[in-house]
Amino acid sequence: MSTIYLDHAASSWPKPPEVLKAMMSALEHDAANPGRGSHKMAVRASRILFEGRKQLAKLFGVRNPNDIVYALNTTMALNLAILGYVKEGDHILCTSVEHNSVRRPLEHVKRTRQAQLTYVNTDNRGQLLIDEVKQAIQPNTSLIVISHSSNLLGSILPIAEIGQLCAEHGIKLLVDAAQTAGTVQIDVNQLGIHMLAFPGHKALLGPQGTGGLYIHPELQLDPLLYGGTGSQSEAIEQPLVRPDRYEAGTQNTAGIAGLVEGVKWIQQQGVSAIYEHEWKLTQAMMEGLSTIEGVKLLGPAIGEPRTGLVSFTLANTDSSEIAFILDQSFDIAVRAGYHCTPLAHETADTLHNGAVRASVGCFTTETEVKQFVQAMKEIAKHLT
Ligand code: ALA
Repeated sequence: MSTIYLDHAASSWPKPPEVLKAMMSALEHDAANPGRGSHKMAVRASRILFEGRKQLAKLFGVRNPNDIVYALNTTMALNLAILGYVKEGDHILCTSVEHNSVRRPLEHVKRTRQAQLTYVNTDNRGQLLIDEVKQAIQPNTSLIVISHSSNLLGSILPIAEIGQLCAEHGIKLLVDAAQTAGTVQIDVNQLGIHMLAFPGHKALLGPQGTGGLYIHPELQLDPLLYGGTGSQSEAIEQPLVRPDRYEAGTQNTAGIAGLVEGVKWIQQQGVSAIYEHEWKLTQAMMEGLSTIEGVKLLGPAIGEPRTGLVSFTLANTDSSEIAFILDQSFDIAVRAGYHCTPLAHETADTLHNGAVRASVGCFTTETEVKQFVQAMKEIAKHLT
């Protein structure tokens, strides 16, 4: 029996074979430094980076691929956005379901730049009312940072309405797309997004160590890293030109080569088709789990929109114990505990035992979901 992998919200697995092949080929044939030399191999490496920007730009409705800069992961992209944008005395809005990758840099600028920070509460299912956001806006609100979907609850937050609100008030919008890039359609111009932080290793099907940030062409951020860019080497200051300004140091060429193929693969399937597939699986999972006595499902109710994850608690049992049994006795991989989002746990009232999170991907099958539900039935019999 092979592993039933239900931890896609943390990192997707498996990857399409094209991803692995492209990475191997980049390492075998194109491993020179991109943007640093003019020999043929260096040029091929540069082309890989450009192809990645082109594919990502197409996916997110970005007009100029150079407005996409690479980062190691969503956390790094969010740090670039927040530390690069927030000025002394700014007021920033975020929500009660943010991941620590948003919360910690925001709390850092609150401390070090005397910024003001307001957390707008969602309800206990992770749904956000736009009126609550409206009421929290102040004259000095300069930025709204919002998770597109809660990594604990799976709720999808109303980005289009928030984008509209931001446009009306001259506020910039930073979206954390860690759980939606590749599974929920995102067009940065239609949604009024100024910065979009995304991972390469989740639904975009690339390897870990890839991700990036879209930066609106009129927005100038302070870089997160300073150093060599292969351009304007005589200048003391970091170049203004994109993407160089935000990409000091050698990039992850082999990783991006894999990401290119991941993005192409999901474009071929269609993002909406992937969402539908994952949504159906979450519904089957929720229906199955809801028949188990003691299970409390978190997030949107059955039938409502959600991303491909289902979190739950089982009576008073420790979520880590359940994940351990699933792994050891059933070879089923899930995540348990606090999911780097203590605020969302407070919102959902699961701070005591954390929650088990089972998350599906584009390769997950109905049979795997059934086997997971069956395993949970057996575990519940013994633990409750
Ligand atoms: N942020 C990732 C998760 O939710 C790692 O698991």
